[in-house]
Amino acid sequence: MQKMDVEELFQAQALLYNYTYSFIGSMSLKSAVHLGIPDVISKHGQPITIPELVLALEINPNKSGYVYRLMRLLVHAGFFVTSKVIKEDKEEVGYDLTPSSRLLLKENVPTLSPFVRAMFHPALVHSSEFLAEWFHKNEVTPFNTAFGMSYWEYLSQNQEFNGLFNEAMISDSGMMNLVIKNCKSVFEGLNSLVDVGGGKGAVGRIVCESLPNLHWTVLDLPHVVENLLDSPNLKFVGGDMFQFIPSADAILLKLVLHAFSDEECIKVLKKCREAISNKGKEGKVIIIDIVIGEKNENHVLTEAKLFFDMLMMVLVNGKEREEKEWEKLFLEAGFSHYKITSIFGMRSLIEVYP
Ligand SMILES: C[S@@+](CC[C@H](N)C(=O)[O-])C[C@H]1O[C@@H](n2cnc3c(N)ncnc32)[C@H](O)[C@@H]1O
Repeated sequence: MQKMDVEELFQAQALLYNYTYSFIGSMSLKSAVHLGIPDVISKHGQPITIPELVLALEINPNKSGYVYRLMRLLVHAGFFVTSKVIKEDKEEVGYDLTPSSRLLLKENVPTLSPFVRAMFHPALVHSSEFLAEWFHKNEVTPFNTAFGMSYWEYLSQNQEFNGLFNEAMISDSGMMNLVIKNCKSVFEGLNSLVDVGGGKGAVGRIVCESLPNLHWTVLDLPHVVENLLDSPNLKFVGGDMFQFIPSADAILLKLVLHAFSDEECIKVLKKCREAISNKGKEGKVIIIDIVIGEKNENHVLTEAKLFFDMLMMVLVNGKEREEKEWEKLFLEAGFSHYKITSIFGMRSLIEVYP
């Protein structure tokens, strides 16, 4: 074999092994989160050495060599950085946080710790193992193949996971809330809005703080909104968006449509169009969701979006869409035009008009 061909083959092998073992990377991150390494480093207040980390984690002291190897991988992946520290006149290596691990601090605002913890739930990991088998089957999703029920049914029957999932959504919203506060113009002029699939109302609470005259209604499944208390301009309604969406000047669908098939999305969007046109004036639908292939997307962002797409395939018969796929849904549901603004990192803001 030519020298060049062999080099290419070894490069090919590296890519193959890299993807094959990426689950080890995920599980290493999971273990760092479960051990509480980011919080320990943050509490330490300066770069922490491995012996200090082992002591603070209160783990078996025999494991310090293993902790070093875990940290070496996570430094390579960009979750921690190293620097030189002086301990008793000796130079040692200290480990510090990066922007990504700072997002895992439990007390930080925003924190993605609940999101990352929920995504490592055994039900999610287990169902993804059924992907290949599912391609031969008739079930709607690999999750159905694994558990004999839909993801939403599983959530409604599993209080512990339902709690984790809702906390995950709230923590993910925390990131967008950084920007949503600056999106006043999107909500200005509206008297009423229905947040369809709005979970525990995290976005509503933020927006209503700066726009107290806006009446915000969260419509979500009964087990999600039960026991939530209304406030003067934030109210919770238990129901099914496929059956009924209350009338309002605008409808918000944040991270909802990506969890449903095209047919289901068109059904919901038609209901939204009725709901915003009922009052005689024509409002808008505001969608916050992933658009694959946006301008200025880098490799990490595209890969994260594609991972989300596969997750939607495994769990819920949903998908992440490119702009032309979104456009097709809007036109089929009877809308005439839309505007996409990419302001939330992975997610975009799409305003859709009748
Ligand atoms: C991915 S979560 C997004 C939650 C929230 N919008 C956010 O961004 O944090 C999708 C939400 O849709 C809700 N949902 C699923 N099926 C629904 C239905 N048929 N009617 C109303 N809500 C539904 C779920 O309960 C869940 O809260």
